[in-house]
Amino acid sequence: MNQIELKKQVGERAAQYVEDGMIVGLGTGSTAEFFVAALGERVKNEGLNIVGVPTSDRTRNQATALGIKIKNIDDVDYIDLTVDGADEVDENFQGIKGGGAAHLWEKIVSSNSKRNIWIVDNSKMVKTLGAFPLPIEVIPFGSKHVVDKLIAAGYKPKIRRDENGNPKLTHFHNYIIDLQVDSIPDPKQLGTELINMVGVVEHGLFLDHVNTLIIGRPEGPQVIDN
Ligand code: A5P
Repeated sequence: MNQIELKKQVGERAAQYVEDGMIVGLGTGSTAEFFVAALGERVKNEGLNIVGVPTSDRTRNQATALGIKIKNIDDVDYIDLTVDGADEVDENFQGIKGGGAAHLWEKIVSSNSKRNIWIVDNSKMVKTLGAFPLPIEVIPFGSKHVVDKLIAAGYKPKIRRDENGNPKLTHFHNYIIDLQVDSIPDPKQLGTELINMVGVVEHGLFLDHVNTLIIGRPEGPQVIDN
């Protein structure tokens, strides 16, 4: 099984957790895309009555095209269940997200969800976080100084750029700094350090967010409740 098949496997499995009447947070990324597709099938074939709360414009467009009813986060009182992908997950179920520059929106949806399921292919599982550069959303104003402070603190920050070499803008018109840390033995300590830097809006460390992890494996999906 290749990575794409593993992503499809976990996306389809996660769609089985959705029940009629639920308000469902819809994650972003190539794995979440399989979940949204499988959910769209259930809506079409079973008449499942759900409301989706997207975590990006990309996901909103996909869900709308599949006939999934959509509401914005501020138009719902709660979210029953959010299903999303991740870039890395460690042995303690802590994760890095934001490879697709959507982690601020994703974290707001995730934080307001009663239950969070992450779907990942087995390549995302690591012993210690950090090989994947940690995305940090920052306000453009003064961002050069955030970069300088991160360098002074011993990190290797890089402003993410688009195909024209301009800083890539998030949905909220902010920049993303990708922080090469190599190894994050204490994610909570790093998260606190980053969130306390003026100009940082949100980092991509998702700590104590996930309730259920579904890992794609060639022998079939592995479900772990945290
Ligand atoms: C989007 O910003 C990210 O947090 C994604 O959820 C994460 O990068 C996983 O994406 P893939 O499923 O495409 O690997």
